[in-house]
Amino acid sequence: MKNSDGTRLSADEWDEVMFPRPTVQEFDRVVERAISRRGFLGVLAVGSGAALMGSTFFRGIEAYAQGASRFAFEGIAAQTDSTIHVPDGYDWRVLVRWGDRLFSDAAEFDHATGGSVEDSDRVFGENTDGMELFSIDGHEILVVNSEYTNNDINLPHTADGMPASAEDVLKLQNLQGVNVLEIAEGANGWEIVVDSPYNRRVTHNTPTVIEGPAAGHDLLKTEADPTGTTSLGTFNNCGAGRTPWGTYLTCEENFNGYFGANSGLPTDAAIAAGYARYGISAGGGGYNYHLFDPRFDVSVNPNEPHRAGFIVEIDPANPESMPVKRTALGRFKHENAASAVAPDGRVVVYLGDDERGEFLYRWVSRDAYVEGGDTSTLLNEGQLYVAQFNDDMTGRWVALTPEATGMSAAGIAIFTRTAGSAVGATTMDRPEWVAVNPVAVEAYCCLTNNSNRGVLTDAGAVRTNAGGDPMTVNGVNPREMNNYGQIVRWRPEGEDHAADTFAWDLYVMAGNPTVGEGAYAGSGNINPANMFNSPDGLVVDTTGMVWIQTDGSDSNEGEYVGMGNNQMLAGDPISGEIRRFLTGPLGSEVTGLTWSSDRRTMFVGIQHPGAPFPDGEGMLPRSCVVAVWRTDGATIG
Ligand code: FEO
Ligand code: CA
Ligand code: CA
Repeated sequence: MKNSDGTRLSADEWDEVMFPRPTVQEFDRVVERAISRRGFLGVLAVGSGAALMGSTFFRGIEAYAQGASRFAFEGIAAQTDSTIHVPDGYDWRVLVRWGDRLFSDAAEFDHATGGSVEDSDRVFGENTDGMELFSIDGHEILVVNSEYTNNDINLPHTADGMPASAEDVLKLQNLQGVNVLEIAEGANGWEIVVDSPYNRRVTHNTPTVIEGPAAGHDLLKTEADPTGTTSLGTFNNCGAGRTPWGTYLTCEENFNGYFGANSGLPTDAAIAAGYARYGISAGGGGYNYHLFDPRFDVSVNPNEPHRAGFIVEIDPANPESMPVKRTALGRFKHENAASAVAPDGRVVVYLGDDERGEFLYRWVSRDAYVEGGDTSTLLNEGQLYVAQFNDDMTGRWVALTPEATGMSAAGIAIFTRTAGSAVGATTMDRPEWVAVNPVAVEAYCCLTNNSNRGVLTDAGAVRTNAGGDPMTVNGVNPREMNNYGQIVRWRPEGEDHAADTFAWDLYVMAGNPTVGEGAYAGSGNINPANMFNSPDGLVVDTTGMVWIQTDGSDSNEGEYVGMGNNQMLAGDPISGEIRRFLTGPLGSEVTGLTWSSDRRTMFVGIQHPGAPFPDGEGMLPRSCVVAVWRTDGATIG
């Protein structure tokens, strides 16, 4: 589906058109919280709790008080052109782009066709997103998501980018999923190791295993898989994560858009309610899979969508291993998966659900992680929680148990959003990536934006999420019509990520001090030189610096004037200062960040460039991963 100007609807815009929000809740406004926050954001004012005394974080505050800047670069200006910019003393180069060969039996990329269907699962997929690098027996293995496709460039022979045959559908299915590729640093810098035995593509048709509380449930059974324990493919792989034992977690986000109904939506009440909450519609989301591949026609396969929307674990060391859908971690529009190990060894995974008014989650394993021990079922048994943020800057994780939700364990794993609503979770401004600070016991989450926050319907009720939970302005989501976004930070009680309570603050509220007033000017660490909108990708590096990637408006007009193209910034959470590090080409989103094992190269993803980047005039725009390094060879985070 497209906008009136011909641009494709975003997943959220599509949801809004297909599923207009009910208008039942009262508006209970929390007034102008953000403005009172502005003096609070400097980190010296937070962390007064006794638990922080003596912590790594507190020692960092002491270092800051002694006056040291931790930035190795000068912030760069906003840009509006069609290439990449990095600070003086740094350089960049394309590592891999959509259509580059992972195997030598595939042809070189063809700009006239966007590549052949035969080669489409032998090349690097489209729309790079979350990624992680693994060092395996001396080999550098990069694992990268390919989130979705830009059909009009993938299928240039079609009039409108809509698949017109089963072959077109197969090509799109092959260009999405996950890429596993060995890379090596040679005379020309970092390059793909073509034909490495580690190289692998996981697509929309790769066999996977389903484990955890939803495995084998009736709602996961299909004609092709009457056991409900296996499926084909992983979908809309957005952000990512890594486990402490060295596996990759890929996160299924807007999976709903691949399904459609050729002869009516299912009428079963539970299935229909789930479709409404997750945005599955008869018309589909612009892929037309259901017209040519019956698996995606919910009129005949109503349970197929219940087998997507999970966290999927992939072992990059074993190309023969089957990806495993870990249903214990819930089913929603998963953004990324950020892991920590609690003091008692239990594994904690933070998880965001990226849709307006949906929730932030945490999962805690039942068993402790033991280095070198059997981790094959560790992600199957544990407790899922959902976040409640109080306006007094405290919060708690509410356990999604059968007792609390009135749902079965399998039901919670399949209709997790409904479980979150049942316990009164806080509606959020679209949780994108969570990042765990490796050098302090705290975590951050990008709340990218929410144009419906605090907005009233014509009937005068505050807008709700798809489950009817009101998106009332609250402390952690403090701005009506929030087009800029913010990053929330929380510190768990007792320096334990498995603790059930936490303190929070807003690390940054994006804004525009040149045109915005009050809270819309942004928090105290936003100024005309570093302003941005729509934080999305987020990583805290090994030195405790916070890397922020944006996926917002690059119109550079109106409320966005002066922000330029999407970008990557670095923040020092100790001083609060934020500097712009990289600007992407016009039209692109900057998403995905990882490092070489020696920390001398950072790999950054450039998704859906609007201009013919990186190959130049007359060529197709190609999403890509670029290597960025310091020209003096020093480490960068
Ligand atoms: Fe795929 Fe929410 O970003
Ligand atoms: Ca994202
Ligand atoms: Ca986004």
